[in-house]
Amino acid sequence: MEFSRFNRPTLLRCLLICVTFSNGVFGAFYRKPNIVLILTDDLDVTMGGMSPLTKTKKLIGDEGMSFSNAFVASPLCCPSRASILTGKYPHNHRVLNNTLEGNCSSQAWQKSEESHTFPALLHSYAGYQTFFAGKYLNQYGHADAGGVEHVPPGWNSWIGLERNSKYYNYTLSVNGKPQKHGADYSKDYLTDVLANVSLDFLQYKSNYQPFFMMVSTPAPHSPWTAAPQYQNCFNTTKAPRDPNFNIHGKNKHWLIRQAKTPMTNSSVQFLDDAFRNRWRTLLSVDDLVEKIVKRLEVRGELDNTYVFFTSDNGYHTGQFSLPLDKRQLYEFDIKVPLMVRGPNIKPNQTSRLAVANIDLGPTILDIAGYNVSKTQMDGMSFLPIMEGRMNSSSWRTDILVEYEGEGRNVSDPACPLLGPGVSECFPDCVCEDSYNNTYACVRIVAPSANLQYCEFDDNEVFVEVYNVTADPFQLTNIAKTIDQEVLEKMNHRLMMLQSCSGQSCRTPGVYDIRYNFDPRHMFTGHGWRLSRMRQRMK
Ligand SMILES: *[C@@H]1O[C@H](CO)[C@@H](O)[C@H](O)[C@H]1NC(C)=O
Ligand SMILES: *[C@@H]1O[C@H](CO)[C@@H](O)[C@H](O)[C@H]1NC(C)=O
Ligand SMILES: *[C@@H]1O[C@H](CO)[C@@H](O)[C@H](O)[C@H]1NC(C)=O
Ligand SMILES: *[C@@H]1O[C@H](CO)[C@@H](O)[C@H](O)[C@H]1NC(C)=O
Ligand SMILES: *[C@@H]1O[C@H](CO)[C@@H](O)[C@H](O)[C@H]1NC(C)=O
Ligand SMILES: *[C@@H]1O[C@H](CO)[C@@H](O)[C@H](O)[C@H]1NC(C)=O
Ligand SMILES: *[C@@H]1O[C@H](CO)[C@@H](O)[C@H](O)[C@H]1NC(C)=O
Ligand SMILES: *[C@@H]1O[C@H](CO)[C@@H](O)[C@H](O)[C@H]1NC(C)=O
Ligand SMILES: *[C@@H]1O[C@H](CO)[C@@H](O)[C@H](O)[C@H]1NC(C)=O
Ligand SMILES: *[C@@H]1O[C@H](CO)[C@@H](O)[C@H](O)[C@H]1NC(C)=O
Ligand SMILES: *[C@@H]1O[C@H](CO)[C@@H](O)[C@H](O)[C@H]1NC(C)=O
Ligand SMILES: *[C@@H]1O[C@H](CO)[C@@H](O)[C@H](O)[C@H]1NC(C)=O
Repeated sequence: MEFSRFNRPTLLRCLLICVTFSNGVFGAFYRKPNIVLILTDDLDVTMGGMSPLTKTKKLIGDEGMSFSNAFVASPLCCPSRASILTGKYPHNHRVLNNTLEGNCSSQAWQKSEESHTFPALLHSYAGYQTFFAGKYLNQYGHADAGGVEHVPPGWNSWIGLERNSKYYNYTLSVNGKPQKHGADYSKDYLTDVLANVSLDFLQYKSNYQPFFMMVSTPAPHSPWTAAPQYQNCFNTTKAPRDPNFNIHGKNKHWLIRQAKTPMTNSSVQFLDDAFRNRWRTLLSVDDLVEKIVKRLEVRGELDNTYVFFTSDNGYHTGQFSLPLDKRQLYEFDIKVPLMVRGPNIKPNQTSRLAVANIDLGPTILDIAGYNVSKTQMDGMSFLPIMEGRMNSSSWRTDILVEYEGEGRNVSDPACPLLGPGVSECFPDCVCEDSYNNTYACVRIVAPSANLQYCEFDDNEVFVEVYNVTADPFQLTNIAKTIDQEVLEKMNHRLMMLQSCSGQSCRTPGVYDIRYNFDPRHMFTGHGWRLSRMRQRMK
């Protein structure tokens, strides 16, 4: 039967029939809203990453709410995506890096977390039909973890990219069957394929259940292959020369102090090229967003659909003389775009409240009417903010960022000189990561403070603190000058968050008017990597 073209009266008649036959389980006028989540890969917000996305800003941002303080719990694809899917901080979902050993799409992940992701709950308990297309977790499809035959639980329609981001010459798992693609633009360009399969889903899905659709583009991740019609766009654009561009981060942690300043001209040219190519790939993402929104509109479903647009982490090009990557604690890597349109969200709003990628699951479950308190999630629903029924002084004032550096026991072939311990190196031995680039931060966004406190698990137990109000480009580490009492409170708060779970992750932060320091929080729990500072303080 073809249900997709029903007009309203037919639907109403049908509803009566459905209710009669199914006891209301389906309800074409289920009226539970539909939800679309568009997730990009490596899209920054601080370097103008949204600039090429003019239609997206108009169709989602101008029609709803944009969040100017949206953060990720970890600035790396796989841990961040795991946080989105589970609503948990990395120390709770235990996906630590992009490899199978670090639990990225590993069998342990499949056995422990994958069946409780928010899409699985939407599917099993909230009556949603679910559709996935695009990049999932970086190791998805690995032969040691079930290959592309493994379809994660909870998805009615599954079109998952094998492994990491690509634009051509890739394999998709179409409901567990491999589908190989070549390099013909009109058949294979991945961003366009994702748009086409999404439109097909909207056309042929059941009309008797609300739907959740997640479209996860590889763009603007490397290898930055633009569609042919966009290959010459932005050909005079350069990476922004902000105050933190190509300067030496002299009071920062070891890895940053290693970077050579100024960068070589070839590095600058390389990063400017990458910057342009990233923007070019985004033009196809902008087309994808437009196609999906227009199709929802044509089908009369737009008014009952929430559309989320965000990214898994930010990006940097030349900041503190690091050519390009995303594994640092600074705003450019941990802050992401987030905009949402939907029923009961007024147009053209901006919220400055702190939200994180661990909140997406709780928010979407809340929209679907699922009781989030029944889950183990660490995040919280920001639906009340979007609906304008949140007293902003009762919202949380901090979030946790956790990152475990890569490179332990390996020598980067690009830079044998530096020996084992570093990774992601450029030919001139500027490295983007090292095993001791392992840190945890509290990012505070309160009416009275906009601060970041970070601790490294390295030989120096290095601490970085920024007053983001006074110093938005994070040029000056104030760890040595800030009030000692404030420093200690932030250290305690960090320890508490590093061992938090569920409700305890949502307790009042240092700058919350309800904050009440309880020393009992200090030495309880089982932190993921409890800080050495803690040991020192014992
Ligand atoms: C939102 O703001 C933009 C830019 O100021 C304006 O063009 C647009 O009409 C506004 N949209 C709505 C729905 O108010
Ligand atoms: C991988 O996940 C499992 C299940 O959560 C956990 O027991 C294990 O410690 C994790 N591995 C790492 C390296 O953290
Ligand atoms: C795709 O694979 C073909 C055949 O191996 C190769 O010639 C082509 O360069 C590849 N294209 C891209 C964009 O990777
Ligand atoms: C997407 O669909 C359009 C319209 O049917 C078609 O022209 C285009 O070639 C398709 N693109 C891909 C990559 O499949
Ligand atoms: C840059 O773009 C302009 C306008 O599209 C075009 O005329 C020019 O040839 C392009 N330059 C290069 C180097 O591609
Ligand atoms: C690098 O670029 C700068 C600015 O364009 C220029 O002044 C300088 O001569 C270049 N250095 C080399 C070694 O080419
Ligand atoms: C949600 O679940 C929690 C924990 O099971 C329960 O205490 C609470 O009453 C539930 N709330 C609603 C509105 O059902
Ligand atoms: C918002 O919450 C704060 C703290 O709970 C309270 O003091 C204040 O009166 C509330 N404001 C409104 C408008 O409800
Ligand atoms: C990823 O994490 C696992 C577990 O901590 C570790 O064994 C592995 O070496 C890490 N991979 C990299 C590339 O650092
Ligand atoms: C890896 O490095 C750690 C820390 O330097 C060391 O303790 C461990 O023995 C090394 N493991 C291997 C297999 O070399
Ligand atoms: C970080 O690791 C590198 C490589 O092993 C080492 O040379 C450096 O001293 C370490 N720095 C700190 C602060 O631990
Ligand atoms: C941060 O900077 C602002 C603006 O200069 C200042 O008012 C505030 O007191 C500073 N906060 C801290 C904790 O230093």
